[in-house]
Amino acid sequence: MKSIRLDKFLADSQLGTRSEVKQLLKKGLVSVNGEIIRKPEFKIDPAADRVCFDGKEISSQQEVYYMLNKPAGVVSATRDNHERTVLDLLPSQYQRPDLFPVGRLDKDTTGLLLITNDGALSHRLLAPRRHVDKTYFVRVNGRITEDTVTAFRQGLDIGDDKITLPADLKLLDEDQALVTIREGRFHQIKRMFHAVGCEVIGLKRLSMGSLTLDENLPEGSCRELTAEEIALLRQN
Ligand code: URA
Repeated sequence: MKSIRLDKFLADSQLGTRSEVKQLLKKGLVSVNGEIIRKPEFKIDPAADRVCFDGKEISSQQEVYYMLNKPAGVVSATRDNHERTVLDLLPSQYQRPDLFPVGRLDKDTTGLLLITNDGALSHRLLAPRRHVDKTYFVRVNGRITEDTVTAFRQGLDIGDDKITLPADLKLLDEDQALVTIREGRFHQIKRMFHAVGCEVIGLKRLSMGSLTLDENLPEGSCRELTAEEIALLRQN
């Protein structure tokens, strides 16, 4: 592979703008094959050289996509001073500094979480006007009835400026359902059930757009998306 400037490689890896990565280099945070390099113009071969930022390897692969089956008890953030984050669950070979979760699940919510460094895709999946479907399995304290199904379909006042967009509720039992929402408001599903007199006691995300949680993926584990899953997600 052709050699390229280190600052370009770092900027292409979403570490920052060309001038931001120059500052990171100056601070001695970047190593190539174990040696701290401070010169932006230093040439590397991305296919052969091991480039690390703050001790973590930066892959020459541009965009990466991982499906995590999030367990309860970890926060959907890139960093947290007190709590374990979803990124802490990735094995070391997947770790790189530009990863982030696409959207947030509450600390006690489990299930599908996409982790990537593809900002454009994340933006498309989360953009409010795109109304990407997100389906959850939900268990509640209380009874889910046909009236609840109607109320969810009509939209609910959960204390925001606007009522919620129509959501689909598929009854599985009187205290269990599949719910599909097309927005991503703060604690949305918990607040929707609260508005109809139920308390959510279990919430697991099963799908987001075209991406479905792999049922063979144990809680706390992750895997790379397949080429087909990536292609379908890009069509969302
Ligand atoms: N709605 C919630 O209330 N919590 C989540 O984690 C996701 C959707």
